[in-house]
Amino acid sequence: MDEPFVYANLAVTLDGKIASFDREDFPLGSKADRLEMDRLRAKADAVIWGGETLRTARHPARVREESLVSERVERGLPPHPANALITKSGDFPETLPWFSAEEIERLIFTAPEGASRLGAAREAGAEIVVLDKAESLAGQVLAYLGERGMKNVLIEGGGSLVWEFARHIDEFHVTLTPWLAGGASAPTLMDGPGFRSGEFLGLTLEEVRREGDELFLRYKAKRE
Ligand SMILES: NC(=O)c1ccc[n+]([C@@H]2O[C@H](COP(=O)([O-])OP(=O)(O)OC[C@H]3O[C@@H](n4cnc5c(N)ncnc54)[C@H](OP(=O)(O)O)[C@@H]3O)[C@@H](O)[C@H]2O)c1
Repeated sequence: MDEPFVYANLAVTLDGKIASFDREDFPLGSKADRLEMDRLRAKADAVIWGGETLRTARHPARVREESLVSERVERGLPPHPANALITKSGDFPETLPWFSAEEIERLIFTAPEGASRLGAAREAGAEIVVLDKAESLAGQVLAYLGERGMKNVLIEGGGSLVWEFARHIDEFHVTLTPWLAGGASAPTLMDGPGFRSGEFLGLTLEEVRREGDELFLRYKAKRE
């Protein structure tokens, strides 16, 4: 089974942050960025979020533009991509709207301790997949989604999750927004422990588009 095509989409401030130091919900991007996000979601079989991103957003990732929803349905796809959550702790309020969004396929990849806290999500129809901590997180998640026939997987963040999937991401879509956030602890496009100099991931810039004060950038990962 081939691994799905994996693409990431995030909006960043000029200083590379994806949120403020307190991780409060703030729309960095404009209407044009939200439309771009919708277009990219519309191409996805699954959208993946880390636990912190869900704690901020609370609701699932949906395609909001009706014409894009109709195009998906005409292609025989569900109206919205499946939502996949990565969480070790499983620590979320039982009333989280994401859990009860029964019209969307929801998968939760977690550790054994997380699974024991996710009874409410399971009862609401979410599928719980327990990860083997000895194996690579990204490898397991992508193999599982691939076996389910998913061909296009969109990583929407946050920065910790991009780090976990970094070596598997084929394409990065980045919206450079006209904000400066600062804050040494604010999440960035990719966090985690980081690569040593000389071991950075190489990218090729494939597309640049300007709309208003934003730049829409598309990079392909260089593979050795
Ligand atoms: N500007 C943008 O485009 C954009 C996009 C996405 C998010 N954001 C913002 O970014 C912030 C969140 O980013 P973040 O980097 O702090 O967090 P994140 O990547 O959303 O989530 C991190 C969480 O993912 C889970 N996780 C990560 N690695 C794991 C592993 N190996 N095994 C199991 N679970 C794992 C853990 O969840 P548990 O804690 O549940 O165990 C961890 O705490 C929020 O403020 C959000 O609004 C912005």
